[in-house]
Amino acid sequence: MALPKSVELVEVGPRDGLQNEPRSLPAAVKVELIERLTGAGCKVVEAGAFVSPRWVPQMADTAEVLAALKRRPGVRYPVLVPNLKGLERALAAGVEEIAVFGAASETFTQRNINCSIAESLERFRPVCAEARAAGLRVRGYVSCVLGCPYEGEVPLAQVVEVAAALDAMGCAEVSLGDTIGIGTPLKARAMVEAVAAAVPLERLAVHFHDTYGQALANILACLELGVATVDTAVAGLGGCPYAKGASGNVASEDVVYLLNGLGIETGIDLERLAAAGAFICRALDRPPSSKVALALAGRAA
Ligand code: HMG
Ligand code: MG
Repeated sequence: MALPKSVELVEVGPRDGLQNEPRSLPAAVKVELIERLTGAGCKVVEAGAFVSPRWVPQMADTAEVLAALKRRPGVRYPVLVPNLKGLERALAAGVEEIAVFGAASETFTQRNINCSIAESLERFRPVCAEARAAGLRVRGYVSCVLGCPYEGEVPLAQVVEVAAALDAMGCAEVSLGDTIGIGTPLKARAMVEAVAAAVPLERLAVHFHDTYGQALANILACLELGVATVDTAVAGLGGCPYAKGASGNVASEDVVYLLNGLGIETGIDLERLAAAGAFICRALDRPPSSKVALALAGRAA
């Protein structure tokens, strides 16, 4: 086992989580969630998305959120950007990091961003170039790395091709997304190994949804390969509006508990993280899907 000494968690709850909630929350609630997360020690918090407000109304107020946010030094606040219009909006909001998001499945790409894989890569090229010229860090996502909600099996070669294309555009990191949470550990590991032959492992992140309850097992399998960047969402919020049936991201609390148990540093205070999760669950009027959050709440009661 070559477990990393420390792991960087990319907290995607305020974006991947809230984009999927039927009701849009006030910007002030999103701001408080993000500030509670950074207060708990999160160093990377995805703060929103400059996508079409017609496609994802829940993210329409991202500029307002960023304007109200007290940005902490040393913390990164990436936002999703699908095209040059999104980049323009991101630059106007003073962001320092964006994420472009592609997929390894044609049908998912069409449903999610209304173009083919090839067109999406052509679209991202100038976005990455302009963003980097403006001094921004760029993250790249590949969705459907272990299966697609419309096509089922996705050939590994397609995952590698899209990840390599994003890397070649200058993405500082490529996040591999099991969008519908169907992966199991050996498949997850084989997928990461295949991508790592084209993109250096230290530039790879993993992004698991927990639909079938396999996310923690998948993460452990990838940590054993040396992956040291993991996307998570507080309280297990999330899903994707274009992947029906996909449940939330793996819960940040559960991953921090796992990493604490393995002696791997995250810099995150578990109790304060769980309190941030409790805050957003109260606002959404639903319980957390994090087992660790439920256990901590039970202990406190
Ligand atoms: P389109 O309709 O093909 O775009 O959508 P268009 O270029 O033809 O423009 C149509 C209209 O949208 C125009 O306005 C544009 O100005 C406007 P109109 O002239 O009709 O008034 N528009 C925009 N407005 C604001 N911001 C923009 C923007 N772009 C165009 N950036 C588009 C194409 C990509 C815009 C659309 O499909 C879209 O926004 N999709 C986003 C979908 C999304 O956010 N999905 C969820 C995130 S992905 C995910 O969750 C997976 C992930 O978590 C990893 C994993 O789990 O695998 C990342
Ligand atoms: Mg996701």
